[in-house]
Amino acid sequence: MFELLDRDANGRTGKFTIGKKEIKTPNIAIVINPNRMLVPPKELKGFGADLIITNSYIIYRNQKLREKAEKGLHKFLNWSGPIYTDSGTFQMYSQNVKDINSEEIIDFQEKIKSDIITPVDMFTLPDDSKETARKKLKETSKRILSARGLTKKTLNAPIQGGLFLDLRKKACVEAKKSNPDLFSIGGIVPLMEQYRFRELCDIILTCKQNLPFSKPVHAFGAGHPMVFSLLTAFGCDLFDSAMYSIAARRGGYLTTNGTHQFENLTEFPCSCPMCANSNPRDVENKEEFLTKHNLYVTFQEIRTIRQAIKEDSLWELVQSRVRSHPKLLEAFEYNLKKYKRFISKHDNISKKSAFFYSGKESEYRPEVILAKERLKKVKSKRYFTKKPFGRIPVELSGVYPFSQSIIPGEPDKRVRSKPEEAVKKTIEYQFGKHKLKKFKVEISRKTGRIRRVYSDKLLGTIRSYDGLFLPTKEGANFIDMKKVVVDDDAVPFVENGKSVFAKFVKSAKGILPSEEVSVVDKKGRILAVGKALLNEDEMKDFNRGMAVKTR
Ligand code: GUN
Ligand code: ZN
Repeated sequence: MFELLDRDANGRTGKFTIGKKEIKTPNIAIVINPNRMLVPPKELKGFGADLIITNSYIIYRNQKLREKAEKGLHKFLNWSGPIYTDSGTFQMYSQNVKDINSEEIIDFQEKIKSDIITPVDMFTLPDDSKETARKKLKETSKRILSARGLTKKTLNAPIQGGLFLDLRKKACVEAKKSNPDLFSIGGIVPLMEQYRFRELCDIILTCKQNLPFSKPVHAFGAGHPMVFSLLTAFGCDLFDSAMYSIAARRGGYLTTNGTHQFENLTEFPCSCPMCANSNPRDVENKEEFLTKHNLYVTFQEIRTIRQAIKEDSLWELVQSRVRSHPKLLEAFEYNLKKYKRFISKHDNISKKSAFFYSGKESEYRPEVILAKERLKKVKSKRYFTKKPFGRIPVELSGVYPFSQSIIPGEPDKRVRSKPEEAVKKTIEYQFGKHKLKKFKVEISRKTGRIRRVYSDKLLGTIRSYDGLFLPTKEGANFIDMKKVVVDDDAVPFVENGKSVFAKFVKSAKGILPSEEVSVVDKKGRILAVGKALLNEDEMKDFNRGMAVKTR
């Protein structure tokens, strides 16, 4: 079960319920190798871990480990939080293990009381031919379906298909039929190892277009903190890291900008508890030191991302992170442009934080795409220009994102206009047509800005942080707002001021996240107004959580 909490870019924070336990997302599952636990699981809590992942196949093939695990995986690993088990697919790829029986491994995952169950998918290589990729996909789909019949636990559905986007789409369509609780994008480790981030993100966005918004998505094997923000912004909710430990063994010191070799460090560019209290010359156990530092930066980045989502500044974080490697910047720019339609449908149409321009890829950001589209609805006698938005009616100079954007070389401009005209143009910009003729505006004496709009009744207010018009239920009668139609069952609740839950939504044509909408019954009677938290497709997808926050 997955509940949305906040959203920004195409990322989100959420609550993922795994059996009786729950974790925040985005999050990372820390890989535990049962043969080699340099940091024991129970110490991982102190680094910020909520979830661990281990390999059921490695345990299964070793009699000693198997006997211990059969008494209960949680006791064996000394970890009371949720445990995710992988199936051995990766060992088939990296250690040439021959095919593992999926049903046998599922039974074993059940037996040891794993919380998230993974069937044996067929690891598809970037070099695999289309025929091979197709065969592996078919077999993987069969195994997911069979797994659904074998377990009632949280089920993970791996998505294969290699580099073939049509096969990735097919893999998603097939996997959805098993109604799994989690989707994991597989076969991407070689792409990350080779810095083929453009193809990686192309695959992720293809999958996101074909997976339900109401389920979390795991990027299988993504463990370097330099990619977390980018993959989150493109829709991933979960990562896993063996990287913290593999890098440590090879002398790798992870940062959000890339990896340093320990030998080359004369300073620690980090203030985690390990680095703050020592310097490279004094470190005795190098591997242990690196393992712990790597864990600290990993969780620091996850927290940074969640905070950025809360503050509506995830794109800004990504734009700064992708500048640490040209291949990341390429991946970001190429895919932001390629998927701009899709991405724009899944981002907030208004944000609390300013739009920062930081390079030409900014021009493909949803804030720009959506503002340009809305501008087509507004005509004026006077315009000013601001890159990358183009010609803007002067009456909109205080409206999001025009006055909330900071663009090098472009002066901030607030142009005076008649308050009544500013209100009308703002409404046209947001909603298009309206029938407002005579109304009065109330200007704040303190700020000089428009506050309220009224006739004999209050029609709406202007929100201070983005200059947008928030109609009242009365005001909605005069404006051609997009409508969320709700089930009869929900009508009395909505009329009583309750918010609208997704499961009661009948239709929500063309609605975007954060848009001001009216809530109506089947006959079109206005019940309430408020802010949409989900877009049209997402409202259909979710059966839990809020769809419209009414005022
Ligand atoms: N770990 C890394 N990549 C994969 C994958 O494609 N499938 C599975 N099951 N585990 C993985
Ligand atoms: Zn450190």
